[in-house]
Amino acid sequence: MKKGKGMKFVGDSRVTADKQKFIPKDYSEYPGRTEAFWPNFLLKEWLVGAVFIVGFLCLTVAHPAPLEKLADPTDTAYLPLPDWYFLFLYQLLKYKFASASYFVLGAIVIPGLAFGALFLAPFLDKGKERRPHKRPVATSLMILSFVAVFWLTYEAAAHVDWEAKAENNKPEPPSTVEIDTSHPGYAAYENSCLQCHGGELEGGPAAPSLIGIERSVDEIKDIAVNGIGNMPPDQFQGTEEELQQLAEFIVSVNEQE
Ligand code: HEC
Repeated sequence: MKKGKGMKFVGDSRVTADKQKFIPKDYSEYPGRTEAFWPNFLLKEWLVGAVFIVGFLCLTVAHPAPLEKLADPTDTAYLPLPDWYFLFLYQLLKYKFASASYFVLGAIVIPGLAFGALFLAPFLDKGKERRPHKRPVATSLMILSFVAVFWLTYEAAAHVDWEAKAENNKPEPPSTVEIDTSHPGYAAYENSCLQCHGGELEGGPAAPSLIGIERSVDEIKDIAVNGIGNMPPDQFQGTEEELQQLAEFIVSVNEQE
């Protein structure tokens, strides 16, 4: 190229105007197909990605993720499980060599090494080969991790009673009953029963819900004084009139159902 005079420049004076753009590099020294990374390869990747994302979006619109029960911090029997794609990490923490005093190993070191190796793979494995059987180390590591992840996921999932868990975890439909706090029986409820049966009669860790029960005024009066099953007697303290109003209040809430 001529220097100085006659040379044309674009906006950036370091780039000459006659510099041709997008000349694919010569990849003939690499086995397999040759293709320029930009834009050919990236465009294809992007297209595949876009198709996948749109498909995925349609799927989530058609089948929204099901809601589970409201979280209850007092429920100590609840077994928290990660989503399926993290079950293998969860399972790893159950083994002796990766739990208790070795938890740093199971929680940080082992997953860190595995994902770190994945991250560093392009820098560690600089071979020009692309065919799997010509890259024995990379291929066997991949197969090993695949088997490990598959096995750990299986081990974690096989020991969970999924049907019972789903049954326990069913969302409760929101209550449609309204609590009339101006009802003459509400004050007695608030004083004697609310701490166990809940502010909206929804129940709690210490007692069942009082919504949807089919009991008469007299039965409720009897339970309030004498208790029932696991409910201790003498919960109600007050006058006979207040007791009557309390029972009527609970029945009135149930009549809304
Ligand atoms: C110490 C906590 C506690 C308090 C306070 C309490 N309850 Fe209960 N209640 C329970 C428990 C536990 C049960 C479940 C009994 C069983 O079935 O074993 C129960 C059950 C009941 C039932 C029967 C529910 C059904 O399914 O038929 C009624 C009615 C009831 N309580 C009314 C009351 C009233 C009215 C008061 C206030 C005077 C009250 N409770 C205060 C713990 C309590």
